[in-house]
Amino acid sequence: MAFDLHAAIGKLAGFNDERAGTGVTREVYTPTYRRAIAWVADRMREAGLEPRFDAVGNLLGRWPGTDPDAPVVMTGSHVDTTLDAGRFDGVAGVLGAVAAVHRLRAEGVALRRGIEVVSFAGEEPRFGTGCVGSRAMAGGLGRADLDRLTDRDGVSMAAALTDAGFDPGALGEARLDPARVHAFVELHIEQGAVLETTGDDVGVVTAIAAPHDLRLTLRGRAAHAGATPMALRRDALAGAAEILVELERLARASPSGTTVGTVGVLRVEPGAVNVVPGRAELEVDVRDSDLEAREATVRALLDAAIAIGAHRGLEVEVAEMVRDDPVRCAPHVVEAVAAAAAELGVAAREMTSGAYHDAMVLGAAGVPVGMVFVPSRGGVSHHPDEHTDPDELDTGVAVLAGALRRLAA
Ligand code: GLV
Ligand code: MN
Ligand code: MN
Repeated sequence: MAFDLHAAIGKLAGFNDERAGTGVTREVYTPTYRRAIAWVADRMREAGLEPRFDAVGNLLGRWPGTDPDAPVVMTGSHVDTTLDAGRFDGVAGVLGAVAAVHRLRAEGVALRRGIEVVSFAGEEPRFGTGCVGSRAMAGGLGRADLDRLTDRDGVSMAAALTDAGFDPGALGEARLDPARVHAFVELHIEQGAVLETTGDDVGVVTAIAAPHDLRLTLRGRAAHAGATPMALRRDALAGAAEILVELERLARASPSGTTVGTVGVLRVEPGAVNVVPGRAELEVDVRDSDLEAREATVRALLDAAIAIGAHRGLEVEVAEMVRDDPVRCAPHVVEAVAAAAAELGVAAREMTSGAYHDAMVLGAAGVPVGMVFVPSRGGVSHHPDEHTDPDELDTGVAVLAGALRRLAA
Protein backbone atom coordinates (compact mmCIF):
# COMPACT_ATOMS: atom_id res chain seq x y z
CA MET A 1 0.00 0.00 0.00
CA ALA A 2 1.34 3.44 -0.91
CA PHE A 3 2.07 5.71 2.03
CA ASP A 4 1.92 9.50 1.70
CA LEU A 5 4.24 10.70 4.45
CA HIS A 6 3.39 14.38 4.05
CA ALA A 7 -0.35 13.82 4.07
CA ALA A 8 0.13 11.66 7.18
CA ILE A 9 2.06 14.43 8.96
CA GLY A 10 -0.78 16.85 8.14
CA LYS A 11 -3.35 14.37 9.39
CA LEU A 12 -1.51 13.74 12.67
CA ALA A 13 -1.31 17.51 13.29
CA GLY A 14 -5.11 17.44 13.39
CA PHE A 15 -4.98 15.55 16.71
CA ASN A 16 -4.54 18.80 18.56
CA ASP A 17 -5.52 20.28 21.94
CA GLU A 18 -4.07 23.75 21.24
CA ARG A 19 -6.71 26.44 21.78
CA ALA A 20 -4.92 29.78 22.18
CA GLY A 21 -2.03 29.46 19.73
CA THR A 22 -1.63 28.32 16.13
CA GLY A 23 0.52 25.25 16.74
CA VAL A 24 0.02 21.71 17.99
CA THR A 25 -0.37 20.68 21.64
CA ARG A 26 -0.61 16.94 22.15
CA GLU A 27 0.71 15.92 25.54
CA VAL A 28 1.30 12.28 26.33
CA TYR A 29 -1.57 10.14 27.72
CA THR A 30 -4.28 12.76 27.09
CA PRO A 31 -7.40 11.62 25.21
CA THR A 32 -6.14 13.46 22.10
CA TYR A 33 -2.76 11.73 22.35
CA ARG A 34 -4.48 8.37 22.74
CA ARG A 35 -6.51 8.94 19.59
CA ALA A 36 -3.35 10.02 17.75
CA ILE A 37 -1.30 7.01 18.82
CA ALA A 38 -4.14 4.65 17.85
CA TRP A 39 -4.06 6.28 14.41
CA VAL A 40 -0.28 5.75 14.25
CA ALA A 41 -0.78 2.08 15.21
CA ASP A 42 -3.11 1.75 12.20
CA ARG A 43 -0.39 3.21 9.95
CA MET A 44 2.03 0.61 11.36
CA ARG A 45 -0.47 -2.15 10.64
CA GLU A 46 -0.80 -0.95 7.02
CA ALA A 47 2.99 -1.14 6.72
CA GLY A 48 2.85 -4.79 7.77
CA LEU A 49 4.21 -4.09 11.27
CA GLU A 50 2.55 -5.83 14.21
CA PRO A 51 1.81 -2.99 16.64
CA ARG A 52 1.66 -3.46 20.41
CA PHE A 53 1.86 -1.19 23.45
CA ASP A 54 4.26 -1.84 26.30
CA ALA A 55 3.46 -1.16 29.97
CA VAL A 56 4.00 2.63 29.75
CA GLY A 57 2.39 3.13 26.34
CA ASN A 58 5.43 2.97 24.10
CA LEU A 59 4.06 1.77 20.74
CA LEU A 60 6.20 -0.86 18.99
CA GLY A 61 5.67 -2.36 15.56
CA ARG A 62 7.75 -5.35 14.51
CA TRP A 63 8.84 -6.47 11.06
CA PRO A 64 10.35 -9.88 11.79
CA GLY A 65 13.69 -10.73 10.23
CA THR A 66 14.77 -14.06 8.75
CA ASP A 67 16.89 -14.79 11.86
CA PRO A 68 14.58 -14.65 14.90
CA ASP A 69 17.55 -14.90 17.29
CA ALA A 70 19.47 -11.92 15.92
CA PRO A 71 19.31 -8.68 17.96
CA VAL A 72 16.90 -6.28 16.25
CA VAL A 73 17.34 -2.85 14.68
CA MET A 74 15.09 -0.24 16.25
CA THR A 75 14.00 3.06 14.74
CA GLY A 76 11.48 5.71 15.68
CA SER A 77 10.90 8.78 17.82
CA HIS A 78 7.83 10.31 19.52
CA VAL A 79 4.47 11.85 18.61
CA ASP A 80 3.75 13.77 21.80
CA THR A 81 4.47 17.50 21.63
CA THR A 82 5.44 20.34 23.93
CA LEU A 83 3.03 23.31 24.21
CA ASP A 84 1.92 25.17 21.05
CA ALA A 85 4.53 23.26 19.09
CA GLY A 86 5.23 22.33 15.48
CA ARG A 87 4.14 19.26 13.58
CA PHE A 88 7.54 17.70 12.77
CA ASP A 89 9.38 17.27 16.07
CA GLY A 90 9.32 13.51 16.75
CA VAL A 91 6.56 12.90 14.20
CA ALA A 92 9.10 13.00 11.36
CA GLY A 93 10.97 10.11 12.99
CA VAL A 94 7.90 7.95 13.66
CA LEU A 95 6.03 8.41 10.39
CA GLY A 96 9.41 8.64 8.61
CA ALA A 97 10.24 5.19 9.99
CA VAL A 98 6.91 3.86 8.72
CA ALA A 99 7.73 5.40 5.32
CA ALA A 100 11.19 3.78 5.40
CA VAL A 101 9.59 0.37 6.04
CA HIS A 102 7.26 0.87 3.06
CA ARG A 103 10.31 1.77 1.00
CA LEU A 104 12.29 -1.30 2.02
CA ARG A 105 9.29 -3.55 1.41
CA ALA A 106 8.87 -2.02 -2.06
CA GLU A 107 12.54 -2.79 -2.74
CA GLY A 108 11.74 -6.41 -1.91
CA VAL A 109 14.61 -6.82 0.54
CA ALA A 110 14.60 -9.70 3.02
CA LEU A 111 16.37 -8.59 6.19
CA ARG A 112 18.15 -10.89 8.58
CA ARG A 113 17.38 -8.82 11.66
CA GLY A 114 13.93 -7.74 12.71
CA ILE A 115 13.07 -4.05 12.40
CA GLU A 116 11.22 -2.58 15.37
CA VAL A 117 9.52 0.77 14.76
CA VAL A 118 8.83 2.60 18.02
CA SER A 119 6.86 5.64 19.06
CA PHE A 120 8.08 6.52 22.54
CA ALA A 121 5.63 7.82 25.12
CA GLY A 122 6.33 11.20 26.67
CA GLU A 123 9.55 12.43 25.08
CA GLU A 124 8.46 15.97 25.95
CA PRO A 125 8.58 16.84 29.65
CA ARG A 126 4.88 16.89 30.60
CA PHE A 127 5.96 15.52 33.99
CA GLY A 128 9.06 17.73 34.33
CA THR A 129 11.35 14.98 33.04
CA GLY A 130 11.46 14.20 29.33
CA CYS A 131 11.78 10.79 27.66
CA VAL A 132 9.74 8.92 30.28
CA GLY A 133 8.87 6.15 27.80
CA SER A 134 12.47 5.45 26.82
CA ARG A 135 13.56 5.85 30.45
CA ALA A 136 11.11 3.11 31.43
CA MET A 137 12.55 0.93 28.66
CA ALA A 138 16.06 1.66 29.87
CA GLY A 139 15.15 0.74 33.45
CA GLY A 140 15.67 4.33 34.57
CA LEU A 141 12.29 4.78 36.28
CA GLY A 142 11.07 3.11 39.46
CA ARG A 143 7.47 2.74 40.63
CA ALA A 144 7.97 5.61 43.13
CA ASP A 145 9.06 7.92 40.29
CA LEU A 146 5.63 7.51 38.69
CA ASP A 147 4.08 9.13 41.79
CA ARG A 148 6.85 11.71 42.20
CA LEU A 149 6.70 12.97 38.59
CA THR A 150 3.78 15.39 38.27
CA ASP A 151 2.59 17.74 35.54
CA ARG A 152 1.80 21.44 35.95
CA ASP A 153 -1.68 20.59 37.20
CA GLY A 154 -0.34 18.20 39.82
CA VAL A 155 -1.39 15.04 37.92
CA SER A 156 1.14 12.29 38.56
CA MET A 157 2.50 10.10 35.80
CA ALA A 158 0.99 7.11 37.64
CA ALA A 159 -2.47 8.72 37.55
CA ALA A 160 -2.08 9.69 33.88
CA LEU A 161 -1.01 6.14 33.01
CA THR A 162 -3.96 4.64 34.86
CA ASP A 163 -6.30 7.05 33.12
CA ALA A 164 -4.88 5.95 29.77
CA GLY A 165 -5.59 2.30 30.62
CA PHE A 166 -2.11 1.21 31.74
CA ASP A 167 -1.12 -0.36 35.05
CA PRO A 168 1.68 1.60 36.81
CA GLY A 169 2.49 -1.58 38.74
CA ALA A 170 3.52 -3.25 35.47
CA LEU A 171 6.30 -0.66 34.86
CA GLY A 172 9.03 -3.34 34.96
CA GLU A 173 7.52 -5.10 31.94
CA ALA A 174 8.53 -2.16 29.73
CA ARG A 175 12.21 -2.96 30.42
CA LEU A 176 14.29 -3.64 27.33
CA ASP A 177 17.40 -5.82 27.29
CA PRO A 178 20.07 -3.73 25.50
CA ALA A 179 21.68 -6.97 24.31
CA ARG A 180 18.54 -7.59 22.20
CA VAL A 181 19.18 -4.41 20.19
CA HIS A 182 21.87 -4.25 17.51
CA ALA A 183 21.21 -0.56 16.85
CA PHE A 184 18.70 2.22 17.40
CA VAL A 185 18.64 4.90 14.73
CA GLU A 186 16.38 7.94 15.11
CA LEU A 187 15.40 10.26 12.27
CA HIS A 188 14.67 13.77 13.59
CA ILE A 189 14.48 17.37 12.47
CA GLU A 190 17.64 19.25 13.39
CA GLN A 191 15.83 21.93 15.44
CA GLY A 192 18.77 24.24 14.74
CA ALA A 193 20.09 26.06 11.67
CA VAL A 194 23.38 24.27 10.96
CA LEU A 195 22.21 22.24 7.93
CA GLU A 196 20.35 25.21 6.47
CA THR A 197 23.49 27.32 6.86
CA THR A 198 25.91 24.79 5.39
CA GLY A 199 23.55 23.58 2.68
CA ASP A 200 23.99 19.93 3.63
CA ASP A 201 21.05 17.55 3.10
CA VAL A 202 21.38 15.48 6.24
CA GLY A 203 23.22 15.49 9.54
CA VAL A 204 24.98 12.36 10.74
CA VAL A 205 24.82 12.70 14.50
CA THR A 206 27.94 11.67 16.41
CA ALA A 207 26.99 12.81 19.95
CA ILE A 208 23.92 13.99 21.83
CA ALA A 209 24.11 16.78 24.40
CA ALA A 210 22.31 16.18 27.69
CA PRO A 211 20.50 18.41 30.14
CA HIS A 212 21.05 19.13 33.81
CA ASP A 213 17.79 20.70 35.02
CA LEU A 214 17.22 22.33 38.40
CA ARG A 215 14.34 23.95 40.22
CA LEU A 216 15.45 26.95 42.28
CA THR A 217 13.01 28.27 44.86
CA LEU A 218 13.71 31.71 46.32
CA ARG A 219 11.87 32.80 49.45
CA GLY A 220 11.92 36.41 50.55
CA ARG A 221 9.06 38.37 52.08
CA ALA A 222 5.88 39.51 50.36
CA ALA A 223 5.23 43.15 51.25
CA HIS A 224 3.23 46.20 50.26
CA ALA A 225 4.63 47.57 46.97
CA GLY A 226 3.83 51.14 47.95
CA ALA A 227 4.64 51.20 51.63
CA THR A 228 7.88 49.16 51.64
CA PRO A 229 11.00 51.27 50.98
CA MET A 230 13.54 49.72 48.59
CA ALA A 231 16.10 49.19 51.33
CA LEU A 232 13.70 47.08 53.39
CA ARG A 233 12.69 44.58 50.72
CA ARG A 234 13.43 40.90 50.26
CA ASP A 235 12.17 40.65 46.67
CA ALA A 236 12.30 37.03 45.44
CA LEU A 237 11.64 37.91 41.80
CA ALA A 238 14.41 40.51 41.66
CA GLY A 239 16.78 37.82 42.95
CA ALA A 240 15.48 35.38 40.33
CA ALA A 241 16.10 37.97 37.61
CA GLU A 242 19.72 38.38 38.71
CA ILE A 243 20.22 34.61 38.66
CA LEU A 244 18.71 34.38 35.18
CA VAL A 245 21.05 37.01 33.76
CA GLU A 246 24.01 35.36 35.49
CA LEU A 247 23.10 32.05 33.84
CA GLU A 248 23.20 33.73 30.43
CA ARG A 249 26.59 35.21 31.21
CA LEU A 250 28.02 31.90 32.46
CA ALA A 251 26.78 29.90 29.47
CA ARG A 252 28.20 32.45 27.03
CA ALA A 253 31.55 32.39 28.84
CA SER A 254 31.77 28.60 29.05
CA PRO A 255 35.06 27.40 27.49
CA SER A 256 33.42 24.57 25.50
CA GLY A 257 31.61 27.08 23.31
CA THR A 258 28.61 24.71 23.25
CA THR A 259 27.09 25.26 26.70
CA VAL A 260 23.53 26.62 26.66
CA GLY A 261 21.48 27.76 29.63
CA THR A 262 17.77 28.58 29.79
CA VAL A 263 15.19 29.57 32.37
CA GLY A 264 12.01 28.31 30.72
CA VAL A 265 9.70 28.49 33.72
CA LEU A 266 9.27 31.25 36.27
CA ARG A 267 6.54 31.17 38.91
CA VAL A 268 5.99 34.22 41.07
CA GLU A 269 3.91 34.56 44.22
CA PRO A 270 1.68 36.12 45.20
CA GLY A 271 1.59 37.66 41.69
CA ALA A 272 -0.12 40.99 42.25
CA VAL A 273 1.02 44.32 40.82
CA ASN A 274 0.99 45.95 44.24
CA VAL A 275 2.84 43.25 46.17
CA VAL A 276 6.61 42.73 46.37
CA PRO A 277 7.07 39.07 45.30
CA GLY A 278 7.71 36.85 48.30
CA ARG A 279 8.45 33.66 46.41
CA ALA A 280 9.91 32.85 42.99
CA GLU A 281 10.57 29.49 41.43
CA LEU A 282 12.81 29.08 38.38
CA GLU A 283 13.27 25.97 36.27
CA VAL A 284 16.75 26.01 34.83
CA ASP A 285 18.02 23.91 31.91
CA VAL A 286 21.77 23.69 31.24
CA ARG A 287 23.08 21.53 28.39
CA ASP A 288 26.27 20.57 26.64
CA SER A 289 27.80 17.58 24.90
CA ASP A 290 30.86 18.44 27.05
CA LEU A 291 29.90 17.14 30.50
CA GLU A 292 32.74 18.89 32.34
CA ALA A 293 31.85 22.29 30.88
CA ARG A 294 28.18 21.79 31.68
CA GLU A 295 28.83 20.81 35.28
CA ALA A 296 31.23 23.72 35.77
CA THR A 297 28.47 26.06 34.57
CA VAL A 298 25.94 24.49 36.94
CA ARG A 299 28.33 24.77 39.90
CA ALA A 300 29.08 28.42 39.12
CA LEU A 301 25.36 29.13 38.81
CA LEU A 302 24.61 27.59 42.19
CA ASP A 303 27.44 29.58 43.80
CA ALA A 304 26.01 32.73 42.23
CA ALA A 305 22.49 31.90 43.39
CA ILE A 306 23.66 31.46 46.97
CA ALA A 307 25.61 34.73 46.87
CA ILE A 308 22.65 36.60 45.34
CA GLY A 309 20.32 35.07 47.93
CA ALA A 310 22.64 36.05 50.81
CA HIS A 311 22.99 39.59 49.49
CA ARG A 312 19.22 40.01 49.14
CA GLY A 313 18.11 38.14 52.26
CA LEU A 314 16.52 35.31 50.28
CA GLU A 315 16.38 31.67 51.21
CA VAL A 316 17.53 29.55 48.24
CA GLU A 317 16.39 25.95 47.82
CA VAL A 318 17.74 23.75 45.02
CA ALA A 319 16.05 20.61 43.68
CA GLU A 320 17.42 18.48 40.88
CA MET A 321 14.90 17.65 38.14
CA VAL A 322 16.99 15.92 35.49
CA ARG A 323 20.66 15.05 35.15
CA ASP A 324 21.61 13.02 32.11
CA ASP A 325 24.97 12.20 30.63
CA PRO A 326 25.80 13.21 27.06
CA VAL A 327 26.01 10.23 24.73
CA ARG A 328 28.45 9.31 21.96
CA CYS A 329 26.81 7.59 19.03
CA ALA A 330 27.99 4.07 18.22
CA PRO A 331 30.58 3.92 15.40
CA HIS A 332 28.72 1.15 13.48
CA VAL A 333 25.50 3.18 13.50
CA VAL A 334 27.26 6.40 12.49
CA GLU A 335 29.00 4.50 9.67
CA ALA A 336 25.73 2.97 8.46
CA VAL A 337 24.08 6.39 8.27
CA ALA A 338 27.09 7.98 6.56
CA ALA A 339 27.35 5.09 4.06
CA ALA A 340 23.63 5.30 3.26
CA ALA A 341 23.98 9.03 2.56
CA ALA A 342 27.06 8.44 0.41
CA GLU A 343 25.29 5.72 -1.59
CA LEU A 344 22.45 8.13 -2.34
CA GLY A 345 24.87 10.92 -3.22
CA VAL A 346 23.39 13.33 -0.71
CA ALA A 347 25.49 15.89 1.14
CA ALA A 348 25.98 14.79 4.74
CA ARG A 349 27.80 16.39 7.63
CA GLU A 350 28.74 15.00 11.01
CA MET A 351 27.31 17.02 13.87
CA THR A 352 26.25 16.87 17.50
CA SER A 353 22.67 17.18 18.71
CA GLY A 354 21.97 20.08 21.05
CA ALA A 355 18.47 18.77 21.79
CA TYR A 356 17.97 15.60 23.77
CA HIS A 357 16.22 12.61 22.27
CA ASP A 358 15.07 9.14 23.23
CA ALA A 359 18.28 7.99 21.49
CA MET A 360 20.20 9.70 24.32
CA VAL A 361 18.37 7.69 26.98
CA LEU A 362 18.77 4.37 25.16
CA GLY A 363 22.40 5.19 24.40
CA ALA A 364 23.15 5.85 28.07
CA ALA A 365 21.63 2.44 28.86
CA GLY A 366 24.05 0.66 26.54
CA VAL A 367 22.08 0.50 23.29
CA PRO A 368 24.24 1.42 20.27
CA VAL A 369 22.53 4.55 18.90
CA GLY A 370 22.76 6.97 16.00
CA MET A 371 20.62 9.68 14.45
CA VAL A 372 19.83 11.24 11.08
CA PHE A 373 18.99 14.95 11.03
CA VAL A 374 17.06 16.78 8.33
CA PRO A 375 17.06 20.60 8.03
CA SER A 376 14.75 22.81 10.06
CA ARG A 377 13.73 26.00 8.26
CA GLY A 378 15.25 28.96 10.09
CA GLY A 379 16.38 26.55 12.81
CA VAL A 380 12.92 26.96 14.35
CA SER A 381 11.48 24.24 16.58
CA HIS A 382 9.19 23.93 19.62
CA HIS A 383 7.19 26.58 17.76
CA PRO A 384 4.21 26.55 15.36
CA ASP A 385 6.49 27.73 12.49
CA GLU A 386 8.62 24.57 12.66
CA HIS A 387 9.06 23.39 9.05
CA THR A 388 11.00 20.93 6.92
CA ASP A 389 10.44 20.81 3.15
CA PRO A 390 8.86 17.56 1.90
CA ASP A 391 11.79 16.74 -0.38
CA GLU A 392 14.26 17.32 2.48
CA LEU A 393 12.32 14.94 4.67
CA ASP A 394 12.11 12.40 1.83
CA THR A 395 15.89 12.51 1.60
CA GLY A 396 16.10 11.82 5.33
CA VAL A 397 13.74 8.86 4.96
CA ALA A 398 15.84 7.47 2.10
CA VAL A 399 18.98 7.75 4.25
CA LEU A 400 17.18 6.12 7.18
CA ALA A 401 15.98 3.27 4.95
CA GLY A 402 19.52 2.76 3.64
CA ALA A 403 20.93 2.74 7.18
CA LEU A 404 18.28 0.23 8.34
CA ARG A 405 19.02 -2.03 5.37
CA ARG A 406 22.73 -2.02 6.21
CA LEU A 407 22.23 -2.50 9.93
CA ALA A 408 19.68 -5.29 9.51
CA ALA A 409 21.49 -7.19 6.76
C1 GLV B 1 13.50 17.83 23.56
O1 GLV B 1 12.39 18.14 23.20
C2 GLV B 1 14.43 18.78 24.07
O2 GLV B 1 13.99 19.69 24.83
O3 GLV B 1 15.62 18.70 23.72
MN1 MN C 1 10.85 18.41 21.33
MN1 MN D 1 11.80 15.45 19.49
